[in-house]
Parts: sequence; structure tokens; C-alpha cells
Amino acid sequence: MANPPTAEILRFHLEAGVDETIGESPIDRFALARQAASEPAREKRPPPARRAARDVPQATAGEAPAPPNGGRVSQAVQAAWTLAAEANSVAELKAAVESFEECGLKKTATNTVFADGNPEARLMFVGEAPGAEEDRQGLPFVGPSGRLLDRMLETIGYDREKFYVTNIVFWRPPGNRNPTTDEIAACLPFVERHIELAAPDVLVPLGGPAAKTLLGRAEGITRLRGSWHSYSTAHMSAPVDTMATFHPAYLLRSPANKRQAWRDLLEIRRKLDGPAH
Ligand code: URA
Repeated sequence: MANPPTAEILRFHLEAGVDETIGESPIDRFALARQAASEPAREKRPPPARRAARDVPQATAGEAPAPPNGGRVSQAVQAAWTLAAEANSVAELKAAVESFEECGLKKTATNTVFADGNPEARLMFVGEAPGAEEDRQGLPFVGPSGRLLDRMLETIGYDREKFYVTNIVFWRPPGNRNPTTDEIAACLPFVERHIELAAPDVLVPLGGPAAKTLLGRAEGITRLRGSWHSYSTAHMSAPVDTMATFHPAYLLRSPANKRQAWRDLLEIRRKLDGPAH
């Protein structure tokens, strides 16, 4: 049988979640283990002495704790804050996100997935992360869960002219894994600025990761959905009414929960139909 072309093999690896190459030639670790077992026992080196507790710098009151990964994250987050703060329109923010190189997800993604729909709409959804179809098209929620989202919104008379949609990260995690806390942290300054600039009347985080990130809460989506929360940043003149609900991908897997999502949607429409903000 002919070997598949290299590009096809690489695409398969990328889709399966391989996002790093360690070396050019494979290592037979079974052979290494066998070799080690047959070698005469070497004198064991003593483990390195532990650093005495008093050598470890301690955060003092008022000092920020050391960021994870030796400051790499804080550098990415700092760069994101600076770029995001400079954006004064959604178009400028999109350009800033596209120029941002500090989120590792960008390395394996095909496209930056910024947003879709109407940035002036009163209703804004924030999902988790682009999937394969979103990565191909460079638009959020265009795959199976996007089609369900559109159908759900149609039932309350909304289409993408009447809502705006984005995600908490702008690039597809390889193999559709969950985005890490570092990746979410690097994108968050843009997401916050995005909400400030779009200034929706109602904000809807879709699923647990988006709800926890935007509401700063630890509970799961089952607890967070179905009631009103306030979302605000230092630059907002007033908080945004926020109602989290189930992610459409979850509803595709667990259709029994569509009833609760339907209730959330009716509540969202009631809020939008209510007295003007
Ligand atoms: N799931 C998400 O959270 N976002 C998308 O854009 C697509 C699927």
C-alpha cells in the first residue's frame, strides 16, 4: 500500500492534538528500558539537596504571587492588556488580536476566529473555543454547535443580524482539547475589551468555561445558568446583565437539557423586550 503524502500525515497529527515536535528521529523507549535493565546497577547519585525554605523568596503582603511558568504567562497577559487597551473600536481590536503572537494556540491554528454577527447587537454570546470548522472558516459557531445555536435563536426571533458571537479564546486548541488557564488568561484582556467595545445589553456565556471565566466563579454551568448576574470591568459605565446557559455542543450530547436552555432563552428575550437600558 502506498504511503499517504506527508501533508496528510501532518494534518492527521495536528487534528489529533499533536502541537509540538520533540525530535526528528523516533526513540525506541522499550529498547532503552531493556538496555537499562541489563546494565549493571550504577552507583546512584544522591538527589540534589532541597533548597532551604528560607532561600525561597516569599511573597510579602501586597506583593502579587509569582505567576505560573516563571513569568511567561504574565508577559503574554501584559502584552495582551497593552494591545487591547489601545483598541478603540471592534475593528481595531480584531486587528490587535490578529497581530498577537503570545498565545501558543495560534501556532497550530489555521485562522484567527474573532467574532461573527452584528457587533452593534444588544445580545452577545461568548463561547469556549473554535472547533475544526470554525478554524477552517475563521468564524465562530459555524459547525454543528453553531447550527444548533442559530436554530435556538431563530425560535425567539433572533438571527446573526440581531446577535453577536465570539469565544474566550481566538484559536482552535489542537485536537479540540480544552483551552488551558494560561491560554484563556492570554486572551482574556481582548475578550474584556471586546465586551466593553460591543457594549451589549445582555451577555450570554455559553458553557462552564466561558461562564466561570467571565463571572469569576468556580461553580459549574448547572449552578451558574438560569439566573441573572452582572458583568463589569473597570472601564464600563454600568454592568451588563449576564445570563449563562448550556453550551450548544453539550445540548447536542444531552438533548434532555434543551428544556432548561429554552427557559434561559425566554428569560433572555424577556430582558431584551423589557424597559430600555
Ligand atoms: N464551540 C465554541 O465554543 N465555539 C465555537 O466557535 C464553536 C464551537
